[in-house]
Parts: sequence; structure tokens; C-alpha cells
Amino acid sequence: MTPFERRTRRAQSRLGAVGADALVLTPGPNLYYLSGVDAEQSERLTCLIVPADDDPTLVVPSLEAPTVRTATWVEDVQPWDDDTGPEPVLDEVWDAAPSRLLLADRMWTRFSFELQRRFPNASFGLASEAVGPLRRRKDDLERDALRAAARAADATMRDVRALGDEAIGHTEANLAAFIEERLDAHGGTGVAFEPIVAAGPNGADPHHENGDREIRAGDPVVLDFGTRIDRYPSDTTRTVVFGGEPPTGFEAVYTAVREAQAAGVAAAEPGVTTGAVDRAARSVIEEAGYGDRFVHRTGHGVGLDVHEEPYVVAGGDVELEAGMVFSVEPGVYLPDRFGVRIEDLVVISDDGAERLNDTDHGWNVDDAT
Ligand code: CO
Repeated sequence: MTPFERRTRRAQSRLGAVGADALVLTPGPNLYYLSGVDAEQSERLTCLIVPADDDPTLVVPSLEAPTVRTATWVEDVQPWDDDTGPEPVLDEVWDAAPSRLLLADRMWTRFSFELQRRFPNASFGLASEAVGPLRRRKDDLERDALRAAARAADATMRDVRALGDEAIGHTEANLAAFIEERLDAHGGTGVAFEPIVAAGPNGADPHHENGDREIRAGDPVVLDFGTRIDRYPSDTTRTVVFGGEPPTGFEAVYTAVREAQAAGVAAAEPGVTTGAVDRAARSVIEEAGYGDRFVHRTGHGVGLDVHEEPYVVAGGDVELEAGMVFSVEPGVYLPDRFGVRIEDLVVISDDGAERLNDTDHGWNVDDAT
């Protein structure tokens, strides 16, 4: 049994548990997760129908059928032609009216309306009800990909630190281009998201967009980036100073964030809630007096989506389980001055958490190991 089929069989047993007759997935992470088919949503309907108690069916535009057949373990592939549209095929696939369907969370509204018209008496929910709990715990295939992607990001972070004071005078956009080039050189496939290079006061904006500001001596520079390997992303952040003296107050903030990050990782183990991990990190920053400057959650799950469940958020009640992968990334942002964020991904093991990132946590690139 392929990992994709194994996931589908698990999803089917969850369908029973949540009282749904079938999943209907259009292209996106859940469709890939269950079928192995990596397609784009388009005006031509592609959908995977997974009944609770029968084999799944893939309905695809006929011109995509050869590609889909080679990508998937699903045997029942039903192509439809442009001149008829998908309805005749769907009429055959839906031989009985379902009472409850779970639809892809990111299905085009058009397709969901069509399903609602086809089954006016059915109720509808989100596919994440059934698939979300499975995707939270990464299987071996997923962990290998996440590890490989983390290694590529770490190797790139070392290359950035090795620039030392050569980085001074370059623009944020320049350094971002260098990061993209190094991610690919280390085996990555493109960027998992636009790299963030936020120099000096720009670091106070957690989602700063790279611009033409030049990196100056003494600037704290927030570097947040990742790539993908086998579709799985990395996501790591360091805050570094490439040379010169950092601004007044920087070291106190830095120490608080670094200790908060370590406390968050230390708190992560099976049975602990996401809220407890958030609290462990946040309380360090609060005690240092910067609680109101830590303006976001402590972390997010990472998988086929860079941001997915479980979210490590204040009050979060998801209990950690072995195989969950998420970021621990506290930050402190002082408007018009600077920002500090440190981020590692961790995977929950049987008795604790294993860090997927292992680059130096210090801000001074000259101390890099
Ligand atoms: Co992140």
C-alpha cells in the first residue's frame, strides 16, 4: 500500500467518525495528500471523490487523464470531455444522493455552489474536519522531506552568515536574491514564501517586504526564509548583525527572544497543549518587559502548507502528539527601532521535541559556528 493510499484509508475511517458520506477535493494540498496528484485549480473541474465505504474516484478533464493516471494509486480515473462538460460523468459517479459532504477548504465557490445545487438536501462541511487531524501528524515520507528542506535552509543561513561585513552596503532585495540562489544551490525547489530581509527599523514589521534599503553597520537584520523539497517547506528565522555595534537596548531584547525560543522548544512534548508552548515562550518575553511587543502567535504547523494546524497560539488546546511539526518563533518588535525573531521548526518525538534547524542562535555573525 502506498503512503497516499494509507492516508486515504485513514481519512475514510474518519469520515465515518464525523458522520459524512464522502470527501470532495479539488486540486490543493488535501487532494495531493490523498491521491499524489499535484494539479492546479482551473475552470476545468478536477476532483477526487472519496466515499466513506468505497474506493475513491478521480474526475479529470480528459486532456489531464494521462498525467493523472501516472501520478496516482487511485484506479478509478473518470475523464470528461470539453464538449460535454463534467456533468454526465458526475451523474454516473453520484449514483446515490449523499446526506453530508465534506468539501475542500479552498474549493472555488463556483464548484461548491454546483454541488449544493446538485444535492439540495445534503449538508456540507470542510474537508479539514476529516483530513486535518491526519495531516497534523507527519508520516515518515513527510518527515524526510521536511528534514531535507530544513537542511537546505540551514546551509543557506550559514552562507548568509559567512558573508560577514561583506553584506553591509547591499540592499535587502539583493540579499534576498542571494538567499534564493543559495536555497536552490542546496537542493531546494524555489522559495516556500517570499524571503524576508528586514534591516534596521524595517525589522519592526514582522512581515516586511524587501526593499532597497541598504544594510548598514550595526543594523539588526531579520532573515526569514524557506524552500521546498518534495513539496514540503522549510521556514527558519535568524536575526543577525553583520558588523558594527547594534543599537542601544538590542542585546536585552535579543536575550529575551532567544531564551523565549529555547523555553518554547523545551516545553514541547507529547500531551502538552499548544497553548502551554505559547505560554512558555511568551512568559519569558513578558517578564523581560516586552510582552506587548510580541504581537503574534508563537508558531504554526508546517506541512504541505507553510502555515497549517496546529497553531501555537495563546489558549490553544490542541494536545501535541508525536509526528507533529511546527515552528517556535517568538519575536519582539520595537517600532522605528528594530525587531528580533528567532525561528526553528520542531518535530514532536515520543518524549520531547527534535529541532529540525541547527544553525547558530547568536546575533553576531563573527561568532557563527
Ligand atoms: Co514561520
